[in-house]
Amino acid sequence: MPITYNQDKRIFHLQGKTFSYCLFLDASMGLMNLYWGGRLPDGDVSYLMDSYWGGASFDLTYGRAPHEIPTRGTGYYGTPAVCAENEQGNDVVKLTYVAHSIRSGKRRLEGLPAVYVEDEREATSLVIELLDPLTGLHVETEYTVMEDLDVLTRSMRLKNTGNAALTLTHMQSASVPLYGYDYDMINLSGAWARERAINRTPLNHASVRVESQRGASSHEQNPFIALCDKNATEQAGSVWAMTLVYSGSFLAVAEVNNFDNARMSLGLNPEVCHWRLAPGEVFQTPEAILVYSDAGFNGMSQRFHKTIRTRLVRGVWRDQPRPILINNWEATYFQFTEESILDIASFASKLGIELFVLDDGWFGKRDQDNCSLGDWVVNRRKLPHGIDGLARKINEMGMRFGLWFEPEMVSPDSDLYRAHPDWCLHVDGRSRTEARQQQILDLSRREVQDYIIDAISGVLSNAPIGYVKWDMNRNMTEYFSGNCAPEHQMETQHRYMLGLYRVLETITNAYPDVLFEGCSGGGGRFDAGFLHYMPQVWTSDDTDPVERLAIQYGTSMVYPPSAMGAHVSASPNHQTGRATSVKMRAEVALGGNFGFELDLSKLSQQDLETVRQTVQTVKEVRATLQKGTFFRLESPFSGNFAAWQFVDEESGDVVLCAYQRLVKPNPTAHRVFAQGLCPDAFYQDIASGATYSGSALMHAGLPLPIATGDYSSWIYRFHRQ
Ligand code: GLA
Repeated sequence: MPITYNQDKRIFHLQGKTFSYCLFLDASMGLMNLYWGGRLPDGDVSYLMDSYWGGASFDLTYGRAPHEIPTRGTGYYGTPAVCAENEQGNDVVKLTYVAHSIRSGKRRLEGLPAVYVEDEREATSLVIELLDPLTGLHVETEYTVMEDLDVLTRSMRLKNTGNAALTLTHMQSASVPLYGYDYDMINLSGAWARERAINRTPLNHASVRVESQRGASSHEQNPFIALCDKNATEQAGSVWAMTLVYSGSFLAVAEVNNFDNARMSLGLNPEVCHWRLAPGEVFQTPEAILVYSDAGFNGMSQRFHKTIRTRLVRGVWRDQPRPILINNWEATYFQFTEESILDIASFASKLGIELFVLDDGWFGKRDQDNCSLGDWVVNRRKLPHGIDGLARKINEMGMRFGLWFEPEMVSPDSDLYRAHPDWCLHVDGRSRTEARQQQILDLSRREVQDYIIDAISGVLSNAPIGYVKWDMNRNMTEYFSGNCAPEHQMETQHRYMLGLYRVLETITNAYPDVLFEGCSGGGGRFDAGFLHYMPQVWTSDDTDPVERLAIQYGTSMVYPPSAMGAHVSASPNHQTGRATSVKMRAEVALGGNFGFELDLSKLSQQDLETVRQTVQTVKEVRATLQKGTFFRLESPFSGNFAAWQFVDEESGDVVLCAYQRLVKPNPTAHRVFAQGLCPDAFYQDIASGATYSGSALMHAGLPLPIATGDYSSWIYRFHRQ
């Protein structure tokens, strides 16, 4: 049984394949967390409780204790997991144990994305109920062990069982103390066009915040945080990690207290989210996914990947091979006609490309980015036969047709804005800050949600559309609503997310065969919340392959390659001006969901042949790329080379990708060291026929050819004999 309660010792033992998570019910101080780490046989770590008290101390014992759900005002001075202001005007909360229950399965989270089960036997859940008797704040924490996936999920339901309103000001979905502080912290940071760089910094006696207040999970920080052993590497060492299944503002904190113990926590961002709870009302927090790995960062990522790929992503596209697409954005931007689009599509179909995506500029009078968002009506000047006419012609070429939308936005120059100027986020009496000359619709309002559902459904129902790119191109300002009372205004950002999730749930259920891809100025909303509705996300607007090595490598810390849109674009690259070969561009894009974003008719015959061959290769290997176990082999953040590898244990297929940035004269051939192979099995290189033992590929390494110019790449396909 993955979850047990030892009544004598008052220990809850949550046990995955390789981890244990042990909670202790202290008679006076409440719920304590005594251990999270490698798997223990029985979880009895109750003996650790007394180890938190030294000799004389200025601090209260209560504050030193390893609280599972720390609150404020009674001696604990770190980041609280739960905080509620009461009618008396204070925010003191002290939680005492009420009850618990253990059952098979996992319940759904009302209105929020979450990891799911297909069979009750896949999961065991523990619910622990705590209560603050004075205010009536009732905290129900649900833990689920997904034994096979080797992850733990955690969320809270906060109920006001008292007689007066409460305002929740802190709602951390997960907050875990760890013994000691000799850890490094990992977070993923960036900006537009350079998302998710891996940062590794020593933890110190300080509180470090990783956060977004932007109303989106953001380009700048990702809702993920990890602590690791000082000596942890991609292959070895202990890592404790969490990611939030949420697409809006978040806060992650790593801190060390004055007794040299660490804590990390993750949840909604209290800077931009407070929630008023009337008596009887319930607030559900987002879910956090917790991973412990004793096999370094690859072990951590593999647990996240499999959970996200198989039990967070839903729908028919979860398991189907994803089509190779071509998108017209970087080929035409806003300047296209039906004829020019058909030319691109016809060229692409002859190369074996399977899906054509029409990007921004097909609706209203949109010839640049200053108008028409919200008016989802085809521009007949550009497309005289409508979306339907265009889609059918593309279908006749043997390709699916896909379409770009930015449904959450409105341009001030649009019929929608003229009709409903109050439908965007705003504060009365203040000017409305514009970004990319657009405003954000107020998705906390039901009528706005319904408008979006109707407008998008109207387009999807009237043409054979097989794919949707769901974009979102600015962050929130004046994130308040014209439609709610002052005491609820600080709920607007979260109410927006709940509204967005309702819209996404409704539309993706209504069009189950459509493949949806998320986007936000590239990868500004690449998170586990979005992946519940759409199996893939456009990773970055930066398509330069050298930059993409780092972006895709960093993204893979949490998210599987099957979730990452990756396209071959023009050279010189539009974002960096760097010139690279089509081979390098294609072989980097092959590390994600492969596609194109350029005018193919401008390529030389030789380059077109490379495109044709890569399309063929991707079709042959995409099952391995989509479902295989992913290993990062060499980091583009630390050297001239980068490498990663996909291993399909069942079929025995292996794809190993290696990249070199700059050429060096007179080198020794660089070797790449494979991982995850059977040491005693033999692997044949499909191209050359050469055979190597798994041990040799992992320990002696595979020498790469000597490069003859900058920006080189090599793809090896092996098959286990
Ligand atoms: C965003 C996206 C791009 C493209 C443009 C269109 O920047 O990330 O891929 O769709 O919008 O305006």
